[in-house]
Parts: sequence; C-alpha cells; structure tokens
Amino acid sequence: MDVKGRVIAIASGKGGVGKTVLSIGLAHALAEAGGTPLLIDADLGLANVDVQLGLPAAADLSDVMAGRIALPQAGFAHPAGFRVLPGRSGSGGMAAMGDAGLAAMAALLAEARLQHSHILLDMGGGVAPVQRRLVTMADTVLIIATEEPTSLTDAYAVLKLLRADRAGADARLVANLAGADGGQHVWRTLDTAARNFLGQGVRLAGAVRRDARVPDAIRHQAPLLTRHPNCRAAEDIRALVAQFTLATAA
Ligand SMILES: Nc1ncnc2c1ncn2[C@@H]1O[C@H](COP(=O)(O)OP(=O)(O)OP(=O)(O)O)[C@@H](O)[C@H]1O
Ligand SMILES: [Mg+2]
Repeated sequence: MDVKGRVIAIASGKGGVGKTVLSIGLAHALAEAGGTPLLIDADLGLANVDVQLGLPAAADLSDVMAGRIALPQAGFAHPAGFRVLPGRSGSGGMAAMGDAGLAAMAALLAEARLQHSHILLDMGGGVAPVQRRLVTMADTVLIIATEEPTSLTDAYAVLKLLRADRAGADARLVANLAGADGGQHVWRTLDTAARNFLGQGVRLAGAVRRDARVPDAIRHQAPLLTRHPNCRAAEDIRALVAQFTLATAA
C-alpha cells in the first residue's frame, strides 16, 4: 500500500455510465485488499453514493469543507471496510464552489492522504470548470466509458481537457458495460483519437463486464461485492484494483 494516500478521480463526462457503481466497487475491493480507502461523493449536483449504499443522512462533504466537522468524524464507516463521505444532493453548493471552495477541497484531500491509503472521488457528469479543477487534484484519473459513441466522445473531451489543464496527468481508461472483447474496441477508439489529436495515447486500466447483478445490487441498496461477491463484474473490479495495491503499483 502507498504510505501517502493516492487520490483517484472517477470521471466520464457523460452521465450514467457507471461512475458511482465503480467508485463504490473500487473502494470495497481496495478495503478487501487491506487498504483503508475513503470514498468521497464529489458529484457536484446530484450526489447519490449514499443512496446506492442505503446510508442515512450524515455530516457530509460540505460540512467538512465549511469547517463544521472534522474529516475523521464526518460521513460513515461502511461495514465493508471503507469510509464514505457523502455529498449533498440538490444543494447546488458544491456546484457553485469558487476558488475558496476548491482551496478547501485541496486542504481536505491533503488531510485525507494522511489518513487513508486511497481517496476515491466519484465525479459527477459534465466538464464544468469546477470539475476540471477537481480532477487535476487527483494522482490518477480513471475515465469511464462504454461503447456508446456519446460516451466515447465525452471520454475524449475529459481526456483532452485534463491534458490541457495538467500535462502529464495520469489518465487511464476503464471500459464499463464491456462485452466479450474486454473493452478492446472502446480502448482502441479512444487511444487512436488520443494519439492522433493529443499526441499521446491512453492506457487501458481494465474493463468491467455488463452484469445483471449490478442493477440488482443497486435496487437492494447493497454494495455489489457484498450482495454478489463472486459475480463477473465484482471479479473485474477486483482485477482493476490490483494495479493500485501491489507493491509494484505504478
Ligand atoms: N457493469 C455493469 N453492468 C450492468 N449494469 C451496470 C454496470 N455498470 C453500471 N450499470 C448500470 O448503469 C446505471 C448507472 O450507473 P451509475 O449510477 O454508477 O452511473 P454514473 O456514471 O454514476 O451516473 P451519474 O452520471 O448519473 O452519476 C446503474 O443503474 C447500473 O444499473
Ligand atoms: Mg453517479
């Protein structure tokens, strides 16, 4: 495990491609692997990590940022071994976050790095300036995409803006809702565009297969790795986290 926590942003541009599912699954799998992850719901407009997990209301990200509560006391310790810092859905507060808010977020992440092995940021959809600034704070940005052309286009936009904002940023693709090719088509499409137009390709972090157990877990407001620990999507998520837990992790 990293000594100083690694901040991993989960972004996509397009909504509804599996960011929250994968953020929760990655936090869970990292905890299984011996980590001490913190999952932050950084969806600025429509936070819903707590809804997918069926958690009651608690002091949330905006309370920590405003200094109303200390980070270790906010949010929840999930029984699966990770902490969750919920967002506040519909408040608009985070969406309107200016320079002071971004500075508070940077301070929060600096503190979280000292307390957690990994800090996962479940980003909302879109590429508004605040979201762009937030992803540049991450050590690694996982860009989630599916085979849908709209998803690929938006994933490319996220990558392009990230490279413009922070040259050399560590961006990796995760192909979700993948079929038998293990995300190869999604990766080749994005990688080719990135090579041709951005001068640098993109690495494939992994693929998570389409699995009916995923919506089933959401309907039951239970983590996928608890409800269906051995389903194929859970296996894929565990394979994905290995690159962040092995001693040789890059
Ligand atoms: N691997 C998968 N297999 C089957 N269904 C999936 C998979 N990943 C995600 N889904 C489905 O896609 C839907 C959207 O997932 P999720 O809420 O994680 O997306 P999101 O990117 O966080 O959306 P938003 O942008 O609204 O926050 C879920 O309801 C889930 O059922
Ligand atoms: Mg989401």
